[in-house]
Amino acid sequence: MGQKKRLVFLTGAGVSAESGIATFRDAGGLWEQYDVSEVASHEALMTNPELVINFANARREQCAKTQPNEAHHIIAELEEHFEVYVITQNIDDLHERAGSSRVIHLHGELMKVCTMNRPDIPLPLPEGRLRIEPGETNEKGETLRPFIVYFGEAVPKMSDAIAITSEADIMVVVGTSLNVYPAAGLVDVAPSGTPIYLIDPAEVARPGNFHHLRTVATEGMRQLRTLLVTP
Ligand code: OAD
Repeated sequence: MGQKKRLVFLTGAGVSAESGIATFRDAGGLWEQYDVSEVASHEALMTNPELVINFANARREQCAKTQPNEAHHIIAELEEHFEVYVITQNIDDLHERAGSSRVIHLHGELMKVCTMNRPDIPLPLPEGRLRIEPGETNEKGETLRPFIVYFGEAVPKMSDAIAITSEADIMVVVGTSLNVYPAAGLVDVAPSGTPIYLIDPAEVARPGNFHHLRTVATEGMRQLRTLLVTP
């Protein structure tokens, strides 16, 4: 058997929507209910850490109650046929829980924490807990914060994501409005001529020569599996 082709996914909130996690920019999405600059920016973390940390705590508690859906599972199962990489903007751990082995989290991981001084180094949550308290320190006296890339912060995983995407044979974009950069720019990084599938019930914010499957992630992934895996 020859070498497996490289299949690169770029996923966003829409892939987890059918697991019950709200997206950001749809009607009823999180950014309709909350001001992003107050709960998800570096500036807010510095000036009102209590609000930012408690917002992450609430989302972490919610995430722990959800399960991966069929879209996450099909993406993981495709490793049997392809060298699959999942580059995700999501901070949930549903791709990992579905069994994907190569997951790059561009915007951090909800189920991990880090320190204020080293936001690039993930640490486990304090034993047995889903919450951290504002001002809480670790055993070295360093102040803990969510391991989330907030607006106004660097995206350290972007260089890995670019290197992976630049060698894609096939790219699949699932459930992201492609509003947020640098992540959205990855669709320009795949070698020219690489087929790019887009699974999203709606239009996205930037143009591209996409094969658009206009449906939800679970149904779209079923269709894509049929297109990519010939029995
Ligand atoms: P958005 O909320 O901007 O976009 C979600 C996309 O998912 C939209 O294009 C929807 O049409 C689509 N969608 C909704 N339900 C779906 C379903 N069941 N199946 C498939 N697609 C569905 O979310 P993102 O693009 O992920 O960053 O947002 C990008 C970043 O903005 C997030 O990572 C977050 C946010 O602010 C940070 O907080 C740093």
